[in-house]
Amino acid sequence: MEKRITVLSGDGIGPEIVNEAVKVLDRTAAKFGHRFAYTPALLGGAAIDAAGVPLPDETLGACREADAVLLGAVGGPKWDMVDKSIRPETGLLALRAGMGLYANLRPSRMFRQLRESSPLRADIVEKGIDFVVVRELTGGIYFGKHETTERNGEKVATDVLSYSEHEIERIVRVAFDIAKKRRGKVTSVDKANVLDSSRLWREVAERTAKDYPDVSFSNMLVDNTAMQIVRDPSQFDVVVTENMFGDILTDEASMVAGSIGMIPSASLGDGKNGLYEPIHGSAPDIAGKNLANPIGTILAAAMMLRYSFDMEAEAKAIEDAVERALDEGYRTGDIAAAGGKRVSCSEMGDAVAAKI
Ligand code: IPM
Ligand code: MG
Repeated sequence: MEKRITVLSGDGIGPEIVNEAVKVLDRTAAKFGHRFAYTPALLGGAAIDAAGVPLPDETLGACREADAVLLGAVGGPKWDMVDKSIRPETGLLALRAGMGLYANLRPSRMFRQLRESSPLRADIVEKGIDFVVVRELTGGIYFGKHETTERNGEKVATDVLSYSEHEIERIVRVAFDIAKKRRGKVTSVDKANVLDSSRLWREVAERTAKDYPDVSFSNMLVDNTAMQIVRDPSQFDVVVTENMFGDILTDEASMVAGSIGMIPSASLGDGKNGLYEPIHGSAPDIAGKNLANPIGTILAAAMMLRYSFDMEAEAKAIEDAVERALDEGYRTGDIAAAGGKRVSCSEMGDAVAAKI
């Protein structure tokens, strides 16, 4: 098959980790007889420097026309002080909205080779960690009205959190469809004891759950969920939640599974095209030093093959190659253990590619 991939390297460690993912994709294409054509485009700080805006029109166009989009990371201290309309993050949010990517899948899986990297106690980790957070990505407080005004001589800032029924229903359905292919359990997370948006969320989630009698369903408050993720993460299979709760919980969920550097994500809409990226940030402190862990991005490339290209065997080949590199002791700094082979970003990419 021939597929066109738009590549957004972004900022900080972005270019380094994306290089390694492309290396692994090329190796996979060669093994399975596919051709991947890459179109580079600018996003985030790199786009602000070159074009004055974080999401140039050409970039959005190139992303919409592609079969899938691979992204490194955006942001950095260099662009922190600028006006919010030209922050790197604004470009990422506009890209999600512009491509209609309302469903963000963030798996949290503990690699048995990395048990020691989890900050959780051994007896908790032993039960295994393997769940996926389905985060709503184009609604809620991220996309509500934001304003700062003045009242009685002081500044007042407001961010609006609103959800409509159809926005809730479509993301809840994504979660149930995924659960059917996993262990058949959905936990819907909200703050229904306080927020109207969450009360509607719960109402729609419960109503939708009736269409999936084979999947077990429960609601959980977000504060309790944050606690349960560290108390016993083995209880979760598929967690579905609104945009900001999902942002917060997925950082926590990635860390309990070992390292945020290991976790990929897929952002999907109604079509086949999607945006694939690691969940970590641009790590400006180690940028350009060949130290970053490329596995999150490599596993994001595997998700691209699975969800956008329907290449299940190819996706599995990448995931197995990552397992084998870990089995052989290859470790970047963030997952290093005593006695292991401490390798650079590009050496990790080479090790994974060689095992496809
Ligand atoms: C994420 C990030 C983004 C978000 C930022 C960079 C805007 O934290 O993808 O989790 O908050 O969605
Ligand atoms: Mg985040």
